[in-house]
Amino acid sequence: MATQSILITGGAGFIGSHLVRHMVKRYPDYRIVNLDLLTYAGNLENLRDVEEAPNYTFVKGDILDAALLDELFASFHFDGIIHLAAESHVDRSIADPMAFIRTNVLGTVQLLHAALKYWQENLDQHRFYHVSTDEVYGSLGETGYFTETTPYDPRSPYSASKASSDHFVRAFHHTYGLPIVISNCSNNYGPYQFPEKLIPLMINNIRTGKPLPVYGDGQYTRDWLWVEDHTRAIDLIYHQGRVGQTYNIGGHNEWKNIDLVHTLCDIMDELMGKPAGSSRQLIHFVKDRPGHDRRYAIDASKLAAELGWAPSIQTDEGLRRTAQWYLTHAEWLESVTSGEYRHYYEQQYQHR
Ligand code: NAD
Ligand code: TYD
Repeated sequence: MATQSILITGGAGFIGSHLVRHMVKRYPDYRIVNLDLLTYAGNLENLRDVEEAPNYTFVKGDILDAALLDELFASFHFDGIIHLAAESHVDRSIADPMAFIRTNVLGTVQLLHAALKYWQENLDQHRFYHVSTDEVYGSLGETGYFTETTPYDPRSPYSASKASSDHFVRAFHHTYGLPIVISNCSNNYGPYQFPEKLIPLMINNIRTGKPLPVYGDGQYTRDWLWVEDHTRAIDLIYHQGRVGQTYNIGGHNEWKNIDLVHTLCDIMDELMGKPAGSSRQLIHFVKDRPGHDRRYAIDASKLAAELGWAPSIQTDEGLRRTAQWYLTHAEWLESVTSGEYRHYYEQQYQHR
């Protein structure tokens, strides 16, 4: 495979750090440049094992910083971009939509603009990969799946900002010929996920004996995917996906929130040596999230048929590995839950 220089944005976050690790290790001849602003969600601890790798460069900065993008394009001559930098948590988007519009919409357009400027002489030799979410498709009822042709119907400020960024990415393809590819993935889980999201939040609260806040009736459904299955799909789509196409990525793995929380409680009881059933007593049904999407479920058959991708591990195994990881990385959890997190947690949960 020819050598490449790739810009990964948001590489210090949850999925980004798994992707950076995967690419740095799998492609020693590639130059991997990670541009990340290190917001509350970005953490260089996530990348300790690759920070010294000779093919890896970290740059702290904002995707909205046009001068910095100029500098990076001029220095590294990127062949491709894999764009993950974003504000990513629905509850935060309800509290502060502007931050989402800034990074997810304006930031994406800034990056598209820079790519077009630097690549215009030989556009077809480059690739702009935009990493997006299944939440752009809205909410499903009891049946059915999101396919690549499901009309967009975003319903939270987060999903509206991601939908908007997807539209801009496609507009740059249709209008200027920028060679793009987009993937829309279901909910990820695994090590290094910030404990504002359901699975690590529940694991952390079980670990510390805090109440487990289940929104509404707990019957909301998500389709969970092991994070390394997502990064493997991104690698495949980046290299082999067809230009201008969209690929859905999902685990065919639907769980009602309450069932998932019960399973996590049981796994944690076992791993922590607590009597069976004890963590379930921490469950509290709390006030629902406004505009809460009822069900997400992905049809990933296009990706399977075109690129031979399939999820690699069963959820029970993945949840066990995840719980075990958080238990053996208590220091990581302590450091990310001090400071800003405490304030967020109080604001988010005190009136529920
Ligand atoms: P995350 O919140 O864990 O990480 C986001 C990263 O982006 C952080 O490291 C942060 O510092 C960085 N960042 C934020 N604003 C920035 C800016 N202006 N400039 C540069 N860097 C900035 O998010 P994640 O869960 O890893 O999600 C990564 C991407 O995948 C996002 O685009 C998200 O929409 C998408 N996605 C996530 C999921 C999921 O389940 N987590 C599912 C599908 C798609
Ligand atoms: P989350 O991890 O925030 O992902 P998303 O909203 O992007 O799907 O939430 C997953 C599901 O868990 C969602 O239905 C909301 C619910 N949830 C709770 O019940 N309690 C919580 O404290 C959180 C954070 C989420």
